[in-house]
Amino acid sequence: MSCVLIACPLAYPYEKRAVVGHLQHPVVRPGLCICEHSLPPALEKSSGNLGRREAVEQLDSRVKTRIKASGLKLRFCTNETQATREKFVKKLQGLGFDISVAEVTAPAPAACRLLKERGLRPHLLVHDDLIPEFAEIDKTNPNCVVVGDAAENFSYANVNEAFRVLIGLEKPVLISLGRGRYYKETDGLKLDVGAYMKALEYACDVEAEVVGKPAKAFFESALAEMGVPPQQAIMIGDDIVNDVGGAQQCGMRAVQVRTGKYRPCDENHPQVKPDAYVNNLAEAVDVILGQL
Ligand SMILES: *[C@@H]1O[C@H](CO)[C@@H](O)[C@H](O)[C@H]1NC(C)=O
Ligand SMILES: *[C@@H]1O[C@H](CO)[C@@H](O)[C@H](O)[C@H]1NC(C)=O
Repeated sequence: MSCVLIACPLAYPYEKRAVVGHLQHPVVRPGLCICEHSLPPALEKSSGNLGRREAVEQLDSRVKTRIKASGLKLRFCTNETQATREKFVKKLQGLGFDISVAEVTAPAPAACRLLKERGLRPHLLVHDDLIPEFAEIDKTNPNCVVVGDAAENFSYANVNEAFRVLIGLEKPVLISLGRGRYYKETDGLKLDVGAYMKALEYACDVEAEVVGKPAKAFFESALAEMGVPPQQAIMIGDDIVNDVGGAQQCGMRAVQVRTGKYRPCDENHPQVKPDAYVNNLAEAVDVILGQL
């Protein structure tokens, strides 16, 4: 084994998880991380999960140090599509996470990879703060539309412009950085990228290609950046479908942690069976290092 993937619901861990009715709705944009923690977001008030301080402690440098010392490669992945990796990393560093930009896989870079591979020139319907991620991409004479969580930038004018570009293409190509329906911030629920993606799909009668978990392209992008084949990678995550199922479909092994959005009924999931369950990240690391 040469690397470990860990789902880390790192993006805005304390703001973007919605609790809808009694259900904890999986709208946080966590991540897949190659290696480090999987420890989510600490829903301080809304669930019985770990508190923020505990979450940070679990993610502390000891885990990372142990992983690095073992020679395993390490990477964090996030579903965040509202800001650049730089911003994401700064935010996490502010929370006490030991993390650098080079260790982060996110939907925007995964989309860039796909755009380059296919010679696509995007019209961007994304948040202004995300635009720098596409700096190296040719955006002249667009032949596709990329939609992310544009938040306030989802104005009628901006959405309509993206619609016009898309419908004007001979073969409309719509790439979406996620498919979340909504998420929660401190001031309430917010429509997520999926709702706008659906609007464009409907208007143009196309199907979007999604490049976030659990899409294969997302996991493959993380692996490609590290130069590791899926058989050599293990994913640690709390989301049975998106983390564990997504990783397994790419040929990786996957461990589910009993923290974060984990619920006991996950253990009877009809489709997805993790390769192992662990109680927390530290235990996941123990198990993985014990098998080297
Ligand atoms: C995007 O939103 C920001 C913040 O509301 C605003 O300042 C900016 O002008 C918007 N950009 C576009 C292209 O709509
Ligand atoms: C991350 O994004 C993917 C693709 O949009 C989505 O399917 C998945 O549910 C997201 N993960 C979470 C936990 O929100």
